[in-house]
Amino acid sequence: MKRTMTALSIVASLALLSGCGGEGETQATGTTAAPAVDSNTFAKAKGKVVYNKTCLACHGEGGVGVENLGKNWIVSEFIKNSSDTELLAFIRAGRTIDDPMSAGNAPMPPSGGDPTLTDEDLNNVIIYMRSLQD
Ligand code: HEC
Repeated sequence: MKRTMTALSIVASLALLSGCGGEGETQATGTTAAPAVDSNTFAKAKGKVVYNKTCLACHGEGGVGVENLGKNWIVSEFIKNSSDTELLAFIRAGRTIDDPMSAGNAPMPPSGGDPTLTDEDLNNVIIYMRSLQD
């Protein structure tokens, strides 16, 4: 629903811009500016859907963590100090219990246990993840 409305509002604003602007310049601004703002909100919303389906069981509602299971994302220095590329690689690989970074309670499964997730899915989760951080 939210998705449809966002898509509609992009179409509506593009129609508006090209309608009143006339030639080239206005149209160019319309096509680059409007989706750029929306795409982040869009990506975050899509990331939340993937999160709720795949990661929530171990990381808790809104990334608060689950005792002896998934770590809290809100206060995670690891997330804060990692680049998007590093986080994607981390999620793909997971973390075994004998990893020096592990709390030793449970492993982080590769791709959060769902290998069908695409890089785009995980990049959206990363955008959502960063939005949860303090
Ligand atoms: C089956 C449980 C489980 C699922 C599902 C899961 N994780 Fe994890 N995750 C863990 C555990 C356990 C850890 C912490 C391991 C440790 O270091 O002790 C962890 C750690 C992490 C960390 C590192 C946090 C830090 O501060 O070190 C990230 C990032 C992460 N998970 C991302 C994800 C993402 C993204 C998903 C969904 C696509 C996901 N996880 C799904 C169990 C899970």
